[in-house]
Amino acid sequence: MCGIVGAVSSRNIVPILVQGLQRLEYRGYDSCGVAIHADGLQRARTTSRVADLLAQVSAEDIRGSTGIAHTRWATHGAPAVHNAHPHFSHGPGANAEAQRAGRIALVHNGIIENHEALRGALEDKGYVFASQTDTEVIAHLIDSHYDGDLFDAVTASVRQLRGAFAIAAICRDEPHRVVGARVGSPLILGVGSEHGENFLASDAMALAGVTDQIVYLEEGDVVDVQLGKFWIVDRALKPVTRPVRTVVAHSGAVELGPYRHYMQKEIFEQPRAIADTLEGVESVVPELFDGAPVDGQPGAAAWRVFEDIDRVLILACGTSYYSGLTAKYWLEGIAKIPTQVEIASEYRYRDSVPHPRTLVVTVSQSGETADTLAALQHARSLGMKQTLTICNVATSAMVRESKLAYITRAGVEIGVASTKAFTTQLAGLFLLTLALGQSKGSITEADEARYLKEMRHLPVALQSVLALEPQIISWADDFVQKDHALFLGRGRHYPIALEGALKLKEVTYIHAEAYAAGELKHGPLALVTSEMPVVAVAPNDALLEKLKSNLQEVRARGGVLYVLADGDTRIESSEGMFVIRMPEHYGALSPLLHVVPLQLLAYHTACARGTDVDKPRNLAKSVTVE
Ligand code: M6R
Repeated sequence: MCGIVGAVSSRNIVPILVQGLQRLEYRGYDSCGVAIHADGLQRARTTSRVADLLAQVSAEDIRGSTGIAHTRWATHGAPAVHNAHPHFSHGPGANAEAQRAGRIALVHNGIIENHEALRGALEDKGYVFASQTDTEVIAHLIDSHYDGDLFDAVTASVRQLRGAFAIAAICRDEPHRVVGARVGSPLILGVGSEHGENFLASDAMALAGVTDQIVYLEEGDVVDVQLGKFWIVDRALKPVTRPVRTVVAHSGAVELGPYRHYMQKEIFEQPRAIADTLEGVESVVPELFDGAPVDGQPGAAAWRVFEDIDRVLILACGTSYYSGLTAKYWLEGIAKIPTQVEIASEYRYRDSVPHPRTLVVTVSQSGETADTLAALQHARSLGMKQTLTICNVATSAMVRESKLAYITRAGVEIGVASTKAFTTQLAGLFLLTLALGQSKGSITEADEARYLKEMRHLPVALQSVLALEPQIISWADDFVQKDHALFLGRGRHYPIALEGALKLKEVTYIHAEAYAAGELKHGPLALVTSEMPVVAVAPNDALLEKLKSNLQEVRARGGVLYVLADGDTRIESSEGMFVIRMPEHYGALSPLLHVVPLQLLAYHTACARGTDVDKPRNLAKSVTVE
């Protein structure tokens, strides 16, 4: 999704800005641009890749020591050059040449909700708009407040904006100054070590290799970045000091190795990711949930939190929501703790009945998903103070805003379709189940030891599942020409069916739906024909016989079944029924294994259909707008 990089230096800053954008590329974008202060404002924008932006700035010899850059994921206005950031402002009623030259240049992440009203007021003042974006409104608004001081103009403008945003602005009349502000979208300050450099970015990863001295701006902060100095004011415009943290961000330059795509690489990394996530877990001690604090400080005392709660509320989006749904089966079945799982974007806006003795668990790969972050803040505002996040990014906003954290060690996930992040989330949620089960006295030490032993065997079990790839490829050959697919599962494998359908639709663009298999005869059975492949997840658990009846319902209507069956299920391949035998039955942890063939099915079908597997159309890796 959108990314911001800004810099002030005494040397040419363009290469650093463009490299910063390259590090943010994996998040997904549809246009990009850069504006530099150099004898006025110069700008390059493209709907192509950052590499083309680099070629453009080189060809036009754009260079300078102050600048801002952006990757855009379209919200208001189509992906087109005139909508790409940075946006320029100019005085009201400026002629065409002055409009092109610009006085303020601005980049923006997020959404301005009152942009229409502001646009109308600015048009009344004589401002001419060149784009359909909400962002251009901010540029003109700052211009309308500008009276020789960019910082003052930004602080005055920010007070008029409604919505969630992070912005960075430069001004033609003030070299060596970038002003940033954040409300609801992340923005960080990078403190440079040479050339008087200081930086702004939406993510520390953009500054990897440039500086590891990071200040996380807080809600409502406005920051003035200058050569060799910076200062910050809070939402009340009071000067504040925020801690400078040493953050070793991953460079994002992840090698593909022998794989064709990151999605494939990440699917195959799952044994390693699970092993890393479980490394050092000798027993399920509460400290596991104290997170990996960015300051090196130990986190809050998890045990006290666990004793203070008697129910769980899980908030998440997309794939992370499905890991939460799976965990509900564990938390209620094993830890015997009432658990509610909610889609973050629904929860944040609906009237709900808060319960103060709730552990609010957010689950997120990125830790920056706008809806999940807002849902967490909403839950807290309702009086639920005990919060835990299960997240793959230790420095993310969600980790910083939660009392407790469990950091999964999936490693950087580049493919937009989440794979290894999902299975490591499941591992973290299973550990949470064991911890809460212990704290509530619902599992014994012997149970815990047995479950942990099974968890430690997961990497080996995952390797055996990955070895099924050739069989999955033959299934994928059948799916290539299909327009629709149905996924079925029961119990804790119902969320796995949901995840399988999400993976397929995300990367292949085949319409896929998932149902709890018992729901089949309540509607979706009407869809079943020989043209509608039905994928069923069939572990050998207590619901197996029920599921077999559901499969018969499909066969009786001429539906073609693709079944992932455990070895001892006595489900055999026959006409209209293709069975892949899972290597072993894995009890409560079986969802972590059954999801893998579904990931591979989506991946290989996408390859055969020739889609952009790692960057599916219209999607972004990190969804920082609601
Ligand atoms: O970073 P998060 O886990 O919070 O992201 C949530 C969803 O946007 C994400 O899982 C999305 O559904 C993936 N593209 C699924 O593959």
